Amino acid sequence: MIRIRPAAGPRVIERPERRDYDRFRVRPVGSSLGALVEGVDLAKPCDEATFAGLVQALRDWKVLFFREQHLDAEQQALFCDRWGRLSDDTLVPRTAERLADNVVVFTRDAVTPGLENEWHSDGTFRPMPTMGTLLRAIEVPEVGGDTLFADMAEAFALLPDDLKRRLVGLMAIHDWSIGAYAGKYGDRLEALRAAHPPVEHPVVIRHPATGRPTLFVNRLFTRELVGLPAQEGAELLQGLCGMVDLPEVQVRWRWAPGSVALWDNVACNHYGANDYHPARRMMARTTFFSREYEYLLPWTGADASEPSAVLSARG
Ligand code: SIN
Repeated sequence: MIRIRPAAGPRVIERPERRDYDRFRVRPVGSSLGALVEGVDLAKPCDEATFAGLVQALRDWKVLFFREQHLDAEQQALFCDRWGRLSDDTLVPRTAERLADNVVVFTRDAVTPGLENEWHSDGTFRPMPTMGTLLRAIEVPEVGGDTLFADMAEAFALLPDDLKRRLVGLMAIHDWSIGAYAGKYGDRLEALRAAHPPVEHPVVIRHPATGRPTLFVNRLFTRELVGLPAQEGAELLQGLCGMVDLPEVQVRWRWAPGSVALWDNVACNHYGANDYHPARRMMARTTFFSREYEYLLPWTGADASEPSAVLSARG
């Protein structure tokens, strides 16, 4: 049995560089990921300097949180369109006549329970996964319904050194039809499986924007590791996906109406806590692609941004 989860003891968590952002304030919410941005109104057109600052802040913090952003669907779509082409967020192609048609409003209540409560990154079953997601709260339960995020670069950094080396070159199969998500398409499973077959991605990618080695597996969509004996592969995959359970790599966000979370979908896993039944929770989600994130290149084991001194200090 391979040791994957680090034993209890000191942890060295790499914190983002603290810098001044000209156009807004940034206050850390989590240790390595998650920061609250103050002084930006997402409903208004975003000038170049503010947008460039947000790009840098997202690169630094992986998840940006905002409060009191009462956007309509059109304003949400316009803001997300600055980041990249919007995804229609479904396996069944539909015609989005207006940009705002790509904003998916979903309601969970006593009759429609949530299914966001498994750690995942959106759309890793696609050949080109989406780069980011913006989630806006419209109505939230009095308690519960938080969203948790896990930093997949830190999840990788906390792995033992010998295991890190074993992961170089390893690929994983991602398949939308293996978990709860498939329930959405229960009546068309076979036809959709043919249209959206499983895809392969490196188990450790070189993050397209930061270059940091980043674990790219998740419990909802990663089916198996390629080329390993079944039992060994299943145990290893389970252990790698389980790194998100370490509280040191997590941040937890408490919603209020008008709160927004904007995250780098390749840098983190997320989990919508399903602890509010039978209360209502209504959210508006937009997911988007980016050319920069089109090819997820494997980490080669020699990355300048992760010097070996740092690797061994964390092993
Ligand atoms: C999602 O999984 O995309 C949404 C998470 C949430 O509703 O908290």
